[in-house]
Amino acid sequence: MQSTTIETTPPELIAALQAAQHVVVFTGAGVSAESGIPTFRDALTGLWGRFDAQALATPEAFRRDPDLVWGWYEWRRMQLLRALPNPAHLAIAELAQHVPRLTVVTQNVDDLHERAGSADVLHLHGSLHQPRCFDCGRPHVLPPAPPDEPEGGRRLSPPRCRQCGGPVRPGVVWFGESLPEDILAAAFAAAQACDLLFAIGTSALVYPAAQIPLLALHAGARVAQVNPTATALDDECTWSLRGAAGAVMPKLLQAAFLAA
Ligand code: OAD
Repeated sequence: MQSTTIETTPPELIAALQAAQHVVVFTGAGVSAESGIPTFRDALTGLWGRFDAQALATPEAFRRDPDLVWGWYEWRRMQLLRALPNPAHLAIAELAQHVPRLTVVTQNVDDLHERAGSADVLHLHGSLHQPRCFDCGRPHVLPPAPPDEPEGGRRLSPPRCRQCGGPVRPGVVWFGESLPEDILAAAFAAAQACDLLFAIGTSALVYPAAQIPLLALHAGARVAQVNPTATALDDECTWSLRGAAGAVMPKLLQAAFLAA
């Protein structure tokens, strides 16, 4: 691995970006951290350090205590409604204007890539904005958001499905559930067809999503990681840029396409 810092962005990476025909941008929670959305595994601030995933992010948890689970996801949705895309989301959206093809694949359940201007984002783990019936699977449209949610949420009964009366669940992928097949297939295909992949703000620990940079590497693409800390990808990727996505991505965009 060629580890480097933002001050010494490798010219080979700039050249690879300028020459790339198909770029995949694969993001995790870290890309939204600078928008104020907590990650999962960062020490101190990560959600899974403060909350029990088994009690909140499994189908069994929802069956056992739907009010606890629904309230927690509503708290996260309220946080998201107040958040704005940050310079990393904006730079990724702008990058699409400069390369022949760009595919955004995200593990995030927020809509900050879309709000920054990215189109056709592949959401591997679903969306906080697309709840559906736990029983019949029909989509459910939520009424306007309540104003403020206390930290961690409050117990809140899920709405009932307008068709079958079943409880409405968050539209996210929980532990023990499969990823949406068509989206995963499209993400794998993009990884295998691209010539350059950015892995931004992900610990690269959760499979099958974490396979995506590896698939790209095995298919001959180069992989640039953007992350302030070490990850499972350190020994695999071509370049590792140690820094916050909101600083690194605009700088890369500038160096590759906007510099005079
Ligand atoms: P993690 O919380 O596991 O990892 C977040 C990564 O972002 C860490 O490696 C941080 O170092 C990095 N990071 C923090 N701030 C950053 C910044 N400003 N710029 C760039 N990177 C930064 O989140 P994910 O890898 O997304 O799954 O987690 C994968 C999946 O695990 C999630 O989609 C979620 C979770 O359980 C489901 O909910 C199914």
